[in-house]
Amino acid sequence: MAKGKQASWGGRFSAGPADLMLQFSESVSFDRRLAPFDVAGSKAHSAMLAHVGLITTAERDAIHRGLDAILAEIEAGRFKWDIRLEDVHMNIEQALTKREPAAAKLHTARSRNDQIATDMRLFFKHACGVLRNKILGAERALLALAKAHRAVLIPGYTHLQRAQPVELAHHLLAWLEMLERDRARFGDVADHANWCPLGSGAIAGTTLPIDREFTAKALGFVDAKGRPQVTQNSMDTVADRDVFIEFATAAAILGVHLSRIAEDLILWSSAEFKFVDMADAFSTGSSLMPQKKNPDACELLRGKSARLQGNLHTLLTLTKGLPLTYNRDLQEDKPPVFDSFDQAAICADVLAGTLAGLKINAVRCAAAVQDPALLATDLADYLVQQGVPFREAHHAVGAVVRLAETRGVELNALATSDVQTVHPAFKADWAGVFDLQRALAKRTGTGMPGPKQVSRQIARWQKLLS
Ligand code: ARG
Repeated sequence: MAKGKQASWGGRFSAGPADLMLQFSESVSFDRRLAPFDVAGSKAHSAMLAHVGLITTAERDAIHRGLDAILAEIEAGRFKWDIRLEDVHMNIEQALTKREPAAAKLHTARSRNDQIATDMRLFFKHACGVLRNKILGAERALLALAKAHRAVLIPGYTHLQRAQPVELAHHLLAWLEMLERDRARFGDVADHANWCPLGSGAIAGTTLPIDREFTAKALGFVDAKGRPQVTQNSMDTVADRDVFIEFATAAAILGVHLSRIAEDLILWSSAEFKFVDMADAFSTGSSLMPQKKNPDACELLRGKSARLQGNLHTLLTLTKGLPLTYNRDLQEDKPPVFDSFDQAAICADVLAGTLAGLKINAVRCAAAVQDPALLATDLADYLVQQGVPFREAHHAVGAVVRLAETRGVELNALATSDVQTVHPAFKADWAGVFDLQRALAKRTGTGMPGPKQVSRQIARWQKLLS
């Protein structure tokens, strides 16, 4: 072989790639993390080759033995990766060929195009499982927090203005709903990844008598009944990156959710709110101002969400103009995917840790929720129950609010005779509306923040997350 010639595809070349080209085109520096999936794919593929008689069982066993040894070396950090061999596939195959001559038959009826598609689908199934577990950890931390602070009420906000009172638990359970949708989304992505590409070859399959279903089964690409699932069009299979985009989408949406949760926590931890105190373990200080305790964990959660969105955008832009089928551009699909996985994983863990260490300041919450204006809508509902049309009731309560403001008193401090001048439907019991416990107890419908409903939701989550 000519000096520097590439062993995998060097047959038609008289010279090897330039050093600069090697540096430019290598992907092994990042795709080496696919080694466990690459080895699993090669074992299943060679098992299939033996099954259909394209290699002997002895050759299959030699290939398996060699692959197991190589994977052990990789896991121990003893494997020598070489950028001259471009990617994870060729690094492993060439190391294998050196120790097991039978490995020269491994790439029969296979291309790196269907091989990388397979490695990545195995990766996605694994990554979705990991992320689902980590999200579950954050969800459990949320549920524990909600259960531990049932007595705490806070104002709910719209436009970041105090709107209506809610149980703190209701706000926390809203976050839980968001995270549960994320968990489900990663489940969907794993389902979409669950189709085996092997057998699609470079673009047009193979003339050799392979058994795609055998390989799919061996790799766990099966439906709920254990039936093998193989992709249905060889050209689509090697060109398609939808699952990559879906995975990055699920991570980006998770990022948006984490960022919104983080933003609430940042606000709540400010001196202006002081609803919560963040654990020292997830806060940092200022190098200049000795009094500062900054919510850096939450700020980074907010910041990382930009990165997760960027990764999605990279994948969309990478694929949009590509002619079918495989183009080398697609090698750039992996760094954003891996980054989304790594960042989403650590973000979910950091949220769980932040929540576990969160202290709730019940006194400050109680002071904020005491504001009787939070029950102005309840006052309108009171009038509705006296038979007043809602629009008229809304208007009347608005006038009562204005009256209280001009008098410089709180809404519930007005005299009954005063509010009756605004609307005669106000009766002597009108101020009873401002009983916070009673106001919440009336919110019994599904999804509402009353204590009975919150208890029901907590019981539901308890079951779902156990
Ligand atoms: N490292 C390549 C990638 O990630 C594998 C597929 C290479 N295929 C090819 N025809 N050069 O895209």
